[in-house]
Amino acid sequence: MAADGGLTLQWRLFYRAAHIDTPGMATFSSTHSNRPASSWMPSSEPKIAAGPELSIIVPTFNEGENVAELVRRLDAALQGVHWEVVFVDDDSADGTAVLANNLGAVDARIRCIHRVGRRGLAGACIEGMLSSPAPYLAVMDGDLQHDETALLPMLQRLRGEPLLDLAIGSRHVSGGSVGNWDSDRSRASNIATSLAYFICKQPIADPMSGFFMIRRTVFLDTVRHLSAIGFKILLDLFASSPRPLNFYEQPYTFRSRREGESKFDNRAIGEYLYLLLDKSVGRLVPARFIVFSLVGATGVGVHMVILTLLFKLGAASFLASQIVATLSAMTFNYWLNNLTTYRDRRRRGWKWVTGWLGFSAACGLGAAANAGVASYIFESDHSRWALSALAGIAVSAVWNYAVTSVYTWNDRARK
Ligand code: GDD
Ligand code: MN
Repeated sequence: MAADGGLTLQWRLFYRAAHIDTPGMATFSSTHSNRPASSWMPSSEPKIAAGPELSIIVPTFNEGENVAELVRRLDAALQGVHWEVVFVDDDSADGTAVLANNLGAVDARIRCIHRVGRRGLAGACIEGMLSSPAPYLAVMDGDLQHDETALLPMLQRLRGEPLLDLAIGSRHVSGGSVGNWDSDRSRASNIATSLAYFICKQPIADPMSGFFMIRRTVFLDTVRHLSAIGFKILLDLFASSPRPLNFYEQPYTFRSRREGESKFDNRAIGEYLYLLLDKSVGRLVPARFIVFSLVGATGVGVHMVILTLLFKLGAASFLASQIVATLSAMTFNYWLNNLTTYRDRRRRGWKWVTGWLGFSAACGLGAAANAGVASYIFESDHSRWALSALAGIAVSAVWNYAVTSVYTWNDRARK
């Protein structure tokens, strides 16, 4: 391996020097760009090699201890296959990306997409798949929990059955298992699996699987419809595909983690609920707007409680109580939206304070619009007082959502 690796590196340096540093090369190749590369390449240079048949996309976040072992296992499991592995790392503190790139320097089958300032399993997988020219794309965890020996049978089935769109690594068909999970994790997984059926509408035994292989053409047909939220990229593919996907499930046993720790936490659960919302009602109303409105509704509760405490029990004036209740409800809404609706763009520290000021100003204008619209409708027909109020609330909800999504929680909010 070491001797081979050294040779490969020399070959690569030679190849690079020959192509980039040759004077006049750029002009030459651009004027002859329609010719096959081999017709103009000097015969002393090595032939251009074809791209891989299979790309294995591996999202990583602090998996430094597992990367080299995973490559070794892929190498053993995929003898005779032209494969590559693409690590997609979100700037892990343990230097996973540096490690993967070091391996790539001596083995062309190893690539790394190093993302800075980004987080997210689904997004990482999508980016990795988009970077590949291979006809077959696999997604696999980087912590050795997925059984790499399942890849070859998946590839063989896809090669042999042109109508098959994808192969799912499954823990819930005969021959597969979840290994040794505690009962809490099993129960949580069972609940999540039953909910999944509502959005994917296909009888998949293991829709929560993060291990699968898909035809690139099928992935490209679906990629623009994906929600790309959270952990469940497979489920997202099924729920977003313009047509039902043909699949089969390849049994495997989920191994326990050897090194590092799981990133599955409350955030992953929240993101899963978000995905369900986005794929069900999200076509009609943005999922974020629904969560924003639910937060707004809890704010009304806060408002009424504080108003009652101050005005009825504390004997403060109505106006003073109303002002304090409004400010409290607004702050509560801001705090809760920052934690839930816009968790991915959460503001912290000083940004939290400036965000709060902007949010309050926007909601103040929203309240004025609410009163204006409501009284306009009410004046035209006094019997429609309830409708007037609802119209006012709707206008201010949409206004508050639109303004704060652009100014308070835009993409730059965290930076
Ligand atoms: N790039 C990137 N960015 N990778 C991530 C991120 C992220 O934000 N979060 C996690 N990963 C990587 C991990 O490093 C690992 O390689 C893989 O994604 C899965 O993460 P784990 O933290 O090991 O997840 P898990 O074992 O709890 O969950 C797995 O099993 C679930 C089934 O219960 C995943 O495969 C899930 O997709 C699957 O649903
Ligand atoms: Mn894992």
